[in-house]
Amino acid sequence: MNSLAKKYPEETARILAQYPADQKRAAIIPLLHLTQQDDGFISIAAMNDVADLADVSVTDVASIVGYYTLFHDHPEGKIRLQVCTDVACMLRGAREYLTALSKGLGIQPGETTPDGLVTLEEVKCLAACDHAPMFQSQIGDMIEYHENQTPEKTLDWLRSMSASVKGGES
Ligand code: FES
Repeated sequence: MNSLAKKYPEETARILAQYPADQKRAAIIPLLHLTQQDDGFISIAAMNDVADLADVSVTDVASIVGYYTLFHDHPEGKIRLQVCTDVACMLRGAREYLTALSKGLGIQPGETTPDGLVTLEEVKCLAACDHAPMFQSQIGDMIEYHENQTPEKTLDWLRSMSASVKGGES
């Protein structure tokens, strides 16, 4: 049996009931949100469950997970820092900004700090092109834009957020 439907019978039925039987693929995104809420990421097994429910291939589901910065296909740090380095931001210094952040955190884009707190990611356009350098932060369900950044400003923000995330754990 489909694990997602087994774990969330009412929620999956409610989501699927919102779309015509021949348009079940429209349910992919709400099903992915449902999937991600538990572990904070979407495993291959979970993508298979969504594909099965939405009557599409797992490749279709994986391409959606890969496209949206709000979906994650593996576990990461408690604070995600997503820096846009697309063309418009690059012209406003995003590449140098990311390099400085990388140096300040001691990790490369795509990596997580050894304490599991911060993941640094490089992403495509987040529609804040004229306010670069910018990043999007994700902490649990909280998503924020941070525009007109400098490495110092971002690292200061990170220090205070790390303290509050750690404080929330104790
Ligand atoms: S190019 Fe970076 S936000 Fe658009």
